[in-house]
Amino acid sequence: MALEGLDGAGTTTQGALVAAALRQRGLSVHETAEPTNGPIGQVVRRVLGGTLPFQPAVLALLFAADRLDHLQREVWPALATHAVVLSDRYLLSSLAYQSIDLDPPWVATINQFAPPADLTIYLAVSPEECLARLERRQRPSEHYEQLDRLRAVHRAYQRAIAASRLAGAQVVVVDGMQPPARVCQVVTELVLASWNRRARASEQQRL
Ligand SMILES: Nc1ncnc2c1ncn2[C@@H]1O[C@H](COP(=O)(O)OP(=O)(O)OP(=O)(O)O)[C@@H](O)[C@H]1O
Ligand SMILES: [Mg+2]
Repeated sequence: MALEGLDGAGTTTQGALVAAALRQRGLSVHETAEPTNGPIGQVVRRVLGGTLPFQPAVLALLFAADRLDHLQREVWPALATHAVVLSDRYLLSSLAYQSIDLDPPWVATINQFAPPADLTIYLAVSPEECLARLERRQRPSEHYEQLDRLRAVHRAYQRAIAASRLAGAQVVVVDGMQPPARVCQVVTELVLASWNRRARASEQQRL
């Protein structure tokens, strides 16, 4: 299960809340995030932090490589133990962010070995609200530049969601403007329904 949204939409907040809610219901949960803390993810974080300049195509390839490393090192082993894997950002982030500077089909191609999550939840929050949330935790510098950027990412997500659905991915849009506890309720129910479908499908395969 992947949580997606603009910067400040609340993916990290919801990751923690939903994981706690699922554990309360007796499920085992593996919380994770992209970029990862693994070797390739650390390079990605340095690029995002501005200390390591790379051209957009190199960054897109690094994100794709970090994703495969993430699947192999963490996601697949956790799924094998029947844990719900909850990732703060996954494939849809690349299809949105990297497609701002690059050809979307190429971004999809370099990610072709990363299967879409069973369920991708997009927390829909307006760019203006995201900016207000981000400004509460940082300096309100570069206000307009940041708003333009959030609007571009917002448009990129709309395109990526449409393309992903056409390709068969389960992407559900949840109103992320509501209070965190309410968003958590909605997301938890969606995750539980998807998890139960997954369990039924694998049971049928065994029969
Ligand atoms: N539903 C909500 N309503 C109001 N404020 C919220 C909500 N969810 C999160 N916030 C606040 O918005 C800010 C950003 O939340 P959070 O860090 O979870 O976002 P994020 O999507 O993980 O951002 P980033 O992409 O930068 O990691 C935090 O200060 C958080 O407390
Ligand atoms: Mg976050």
